[in-house]
Amino acid sequence: MSACGLDFGTSNTTLGVCAPGRAPALVALEGDDVTIPSAIFFDWSSNAVIGRAAVGAYVDGVQGRLLRSLKSALGSSLIDETTQVGRKRLRFTQVIARYLELLKERAEGASGGALTQVVHGRPVHFVDGDPEGDRKAEDALRDIAHSIGFTDVSFQFEPIAAALDYERQVKREEIAMVVDIGGGTSDFSIVRLSPKRRGKADRSGDVLANGGARVGGVDFDRRLSLASVMPLLGFGSPMKRPGLDAPSGYFHDLATWSSINRVYNQHTLREVRDVRRESTQPHLIERLQRVIELQRGHTLAIDVERAKIALSQVDETFIDLGWLEDQLCAKPDRAALVTSSERLTSRIVQTVRECIGQAGLRADQLQALFLTGGTTQIPHVREAVMREMPAARVIEGDTFGSVGMGLTIEAQRRYG
Ligand SMILES: Nc1ncnc2c1ncn2[C@@H]1O[C@H](COP(=O)(O)OP(=O)(O)OP(=O)(O)O)[C@@H](O)[C@H]1O
Ligand SMILES: [Mg+2]
Repeated sequence: MSACGLDFGTSNTTLGVCAPGRAPALVALEGDDVTIPSAIFFDWSSNAVIGRAAVGAYVDGVQGRLLRSLKSALGSSLIDETTQVGRKRLRFTQVIARYLELLKERAEGASGGALTQVVHGRPVHFVDGDPEGDRKAEDALRDIAHSIGFTDVSFQFEPIAAALDYERQVKREEIAMVVDIGGGTSDFSIVRLSPKRRGKADRSGDVLANGGARVGGVDFDRRLSLASVMPLLGFGSPMKRPGLDAPSGYFHDLATWSSINRVYNQHTLREVRDVRRESTQPHLIERLQRVIELQRGHTLAIDVERAKIALSQVDETFIDLGWLEDQLCAKPDRAALVTSSERLTSRIVQTVRECIGQAGLRADQLQALFLTGGTTQIPHVREAVMREMPAARVIEGDTFGSVGMGLTIEAQRRYG
């Protein structure tokens, strides 16, 4: 029997085990990889595969349903909804349970023993400004963890976990801002860290502030998609009736990882055909219709995410849409990403400021800035955060592993 730390992320999941006599370590969850995409694919007989294999099955055209960004459902109205999976409909919480159950089995195989105790990561806020929604989301995760065989379940904020990982390399006492901007949420903690404090059982006095916003990589994907791909499918195009544009709901759903599957149904297809008839640019709406008929919304989302990631390195990139129409392509550039995500970036900066205010500190009193989470790799996002605390030394965490590692350290402290 062992304890584990579980970082079930919006985009990626890690799990670390602390067995007696062994140092806490992340477990390989897919091949040699300790990071596995938070994705599940159900074929029409409702058999499920997870991770890269799930995305691969969809890309290869296997008939079935891909679900990604499952954690987003916890902080939204989707939590009470069902989704078509094979021949049945499942609640989103059941889909998450299936994903985590398969993951747990895998981790038990890799670590060689049953996992019964878990420190589960959670964002500071699943939902903005809604403590009741936060509680509901955490309760849902607790119920799921019990339902898949964990007997002891407790939670830790994701940025506090990242701080515990970072603290292993801290040489003298310092006040650090931990920034974890992932796929679904931006999370911040201001903490007092030191080699001496590391061993203490109760660290609550060292946590000076926590803050968070429901802004993450999937929102950057959505904005980039709406700016550079959806217009090619008719987003913002005029209808014959003066003053009216094509209804925007289909485009928003297609641009949002967690709601893509919503448009794959006959009712929506009929509506889109009607829109096409009433459109001044029916050839654009025809592309939208084709994406829905072929159930290729996830292909667009995968390509947009890939383009966004490329734009962290290069100034412009290319999305080949030749499968949709001969020669069709989108050419998003960094300027489009910056402009389309302006509101998201300012929301992140505003939450950083609130967090510093909550700690009762001036920005120049923050000595270290620890960065983790995939979205901190976006240059304009990290620069905007760094500008808020120019005196702080910047430390690059393990982008995808810090939170999981910190949760495992915490699991050892609580259950070891
Ligand atoms: N090099 C990169 N540049 C920009 N974005 C990136 C890069 N690498 C990964 N991402 C984005 O980071 C996000 C995933 O980050 P991460 O794995 O930290 O999130 P998560 O832990 O699953 O989510 P959360 O903690 O919010 O629930 C995705 O949106 C992905 O597109
Ligand atoms: Mg995360």
